Amino acid sequence: MSEPALRASRMGTPPSTYAIRTATSEQTESLGRRLGHLLRSGDVIALSGDLGAGKTVLTRGIAQGAGAAGYFASPTFTLVREYSGPVSIAHVDLYRLDAPRQIEDIGFDEILERDGVVVIEWAEKIRSMLPSAYLWVEIRFTDRENEREIAFIPQGSRYIAITEALVKADAHPRH
Ligand SMILES: Nc1ncnc2c1ncn2[C@@H]1O[C@H](COP(=O)(O)OP(=O)(O)O)[C@@H](O)[C@H]1O
Ligand SMILES: [Mg+2]
Repeated sequence: MSEPALRASRMGTPPSTYAIRTATSEQTESLGRRLGHLLRSGDVIALSGDLGAGKTVLTRGIAQGAGAAGYFASPTFTLVREYSGPVSIAHVDLYRLDAPRQIEDIGFDEILERDGVVVIEWAEKIRSMLPSAYLWVEIRFTDRENEREIAFIPQGSRYIAITEALVKADAHPRH
């Protein structure tokens, strides 16, 4: 299957920040797949963006790219669903979280310590509780229907490398 050629543009500050526009949900999912390919256990992806922006679509792609499948409620953690595979994905959706102190109730520290990749929707609600390094991703609506601008804002050298690799893959799509 051929991947769409999406153009990544470098954003001003901080360096190594890029934005990619997608025209369809399939393109967003495909971008997620490419990101998922680059991830390994221990990685943290923090997603921010309004309801319906495409965070869940991107996460589905990430899981596919990491070779993870199935989708089931975590037996251990509220607000977490998991995809299992060689690299498992914990999908944390904080949409229903209203007070930061509730984070203790959901065991966020324990979620971060588990094996696999952790993807967090509505990460802005717990930004101060994130580890020192993570990939911050912001998805915005544009003035075109179905178009999204997806900004990758890496925190830490590992995520700068991932972002650079993602952007390179973007410039030279694999077929
Ligand atoms: N370019 C796009 N990228 C992602 N989703 C899109 C795009 N264009 C339209 N959509 C639609 O927007 C919705 C995004 O839903 P979802 O991923 O659940 O949002 P969120 O998790 O951010 O609330 C889906 O219905 C999807 O089909
Ligand atoms: Mg969602």
